[in-house]
Amino acid sequence: MLEVRGVSVRYGQSAPALRSLDLKAGPGRVTAVVGGNGAGKSTLMKAVSGALGFDSGRLVEGEILLEGKPVHRLGPTALVRRGIAHVPEGRRVFADLTVEENLRAGAATVRGRVQERLDEAYGMFEVLARRRRQRAVLLSGGEQQMLAIARGLMSGPRLLLLDEPSLGLAPKVVERIGEIISLIREQGTGVLVVEQNAAMALSVADDGYVLEQGSAVLSGTAAQLRATDEVQQLYLGGSGTADELLQFADRAPLQRWSA
Ligand SMILES: Nc1ncnc2c1ncn2[C@@H]1O[C@H](COP(=O)(O)OP(=O)(O)OP(=O)(O)O)[C@@H](O)[C@H]1O
Ligand SMILES: [Mg+2]
Repeated sequence: MLEVRGVSVRYGQSAPALRSLDLKAGPGRVTAVVGGNGAGKSTLMKAVSGALGFDSGRLVEGEILLEGKPVHRLGPTALVRRGIAHVPEGRRVFADLTVEENLRAGAATVRGRVQERLDEAYGMFEVLARRRRQRAVLLSGGEQQMLAIARGLMSGPRLLLLDEPSLGLAPKVVERIGEIISLIREQGTGVLVVEQNAAMALSVADDGYVLEQGSAVLSGTAAQLRATDEVQQLYLGGSGTADELLQFADRAPLQRWSA
């Protein structure tokens, strides 16, 4: 279980990117965090994976616990060893390395079981098996996203962090990514996915949060969130108009309820 407790994050002297955020990601569950541009989604992923320092970000308040133990002072390598793998935004694969070299890089900080995990990755992603000797730069955007996810799984995480896996991909590929997230959960790995694509994320998730300006304004089961008017209109392309969207942008946060 991952627990984010009252976490605030700042970059330099600018306004906080996360504001007293509380969030839980249960073991073996899919937790979705949906929110628009600048809501703090990537900041949350960086805070949990120990990568804030690369961007001059600082956790200024609160704590992050993994199985009850504080982990917010640990760096990325220590966190990978504790079972947290981060698939960053923009599917940053190593363009000049082959598919297989990319996968092996994902296992670099953990010991053993590399061949077994490669076999599992090729079992889950047939396209990667076929193209294992090709350089990653030759893959399509969707295939690169699959590779980024598979690379994240190579460290055998208990919790996989996915930062906008659907970004810029065609609907069919987005659907496939949803299926892969479900498959990862079936194999016992928890997933914390942040997305602008609320339809995809809330359709595969067990639990969800709506993030606005660094705060969780709504939380509940994914089914509860899907049924909420605000989520329907503003995030699921319901009857929300551009005017309503603009109005919502400066509105006081909705009252938060707990799951
Ligand atoms: N390296 C940085 N330095 C300064 N400010 C930053 C930095 N990274 C993010 N921010 C600011 O923090 C806030 C949250 O950004 P973040 O990248 O977490 O949002 P996001 O929800 O991931 O957005 P997007 O959907 O565009 O990826 C924004 O106001 C952003 O401008
Ligand atoms: Mg982001």
